[in-house]
Amino acid sequence: MADNWSLESAKEMSDRQFEKWRNLLEERIGMQLPDSRRTFLQTSLGIRMREVGCKEYEEYYEHVLDGTQGVIEWTTLVDRLTVQETRFFRDPSSCRLVQDYLNSQKDQSRTINIWSVGCATGEEPYSLSIIANESIPRPSGDDFSKFSVTATDISQPALNKANAGIYHERKLVELSDKVRDRYFSRQGFNMHVEEQMKSRVCFVRLNVLELEKSPLADFDVIYCQNLLIYFRRWRRKEIANKLAEKLVPGGLLVLGSGELVDWNPEKLTRIPSEQTLAYLKRKN
Ligand SMILES: C[S@@+](CC[C@H](N)C(=O)[O-])C[C@H]1O[C@@H](n2cnc3c(N)ncnc32)[C@H](O)[C@@H]1O
Repeated sequence: MADNWSLESAKEMSDRQFEKWRNLLEERIGMQLPDSRRTFLQTSLGIRMREVGCKEYEEYYEHVLDGTQGVIEWTTLVDRLTVQETRFFRDPSSCRLVQDYLNSQKDQSRTINIWSVGCATGEEPYSLSIIANESIPRPSGDDFSKFSVTATDISQPALNKANAGIYHERKLVELSDKVRDRYFSRQGFNMHVEEQMKSRVCFVRLNVLELEKSPLADFDVIYCQNLLIYFRRWRRKEIANKLAEKLVPGGLLVLGSGELVDWNPEKLTRIPSEQTLAYLKRKN
């Protein structure tokens, strides 16, 4: 008989189990799981449980809490539960804002530091690199402007893909021929990010719930889109406050439009725009 176990519907989860998983996910990665996401949780856990040979939700719960093997399993599970949808130059108005900001940076001796928070599979940080290289003024004769991009995410598999810098040509259809030719090289249907560009992007695993433990600081631009929406409102503000602390004076914070409301940080000024949610850090 054909092995069709992967098509079986997931086992019904008790209210108590749902509550336990919901609390664990919110506490560890900030993920909110309303009742409407219960089937999603059951299905995702069910698939992973079959892969590792666990029959009961409780048994699997103990498994992910169990020492080193639990830490490894947790990494895989988080990757399965998080949404990693992304694309190059996803939000054109925010990209334009970053472009204008970088273009106005006149000190060519200084390296501009950019941070893509929740970078998924890398399309966002590579887009920011392209914008940076096309916008930051550079001494004539230099091929590349002085900048670095730090890209962080909680999903290690997403970061591995990002770090490889290889994308199917379909993912690049919206890029101009000029950008494609300048920053990618073709191998069959795959497009490889150009090496010099790639070397400017550094990928690091980071949970945004643990920002205070991270030494990352002094960024000129922090770009955080389509991540805060997964968190509760109070947590979104808490994370945004911590990101603001990691900006240099005069630095730019770009969030996703509508992702944060009623946030009036003391040291930042909102950039007036209906399409973008962005702030400048005051210099004093
Ligand atoms: C929808 S993607 C957004 C990707 C990109 N920023 C964009 O706008 O196209 C959300 C990303 O946030 C990451 N993520 C979710 N929870 C996280 C957390 N607690 N810490 C860091 N990254 C997280 C996910 O792994 C995923 O890659």
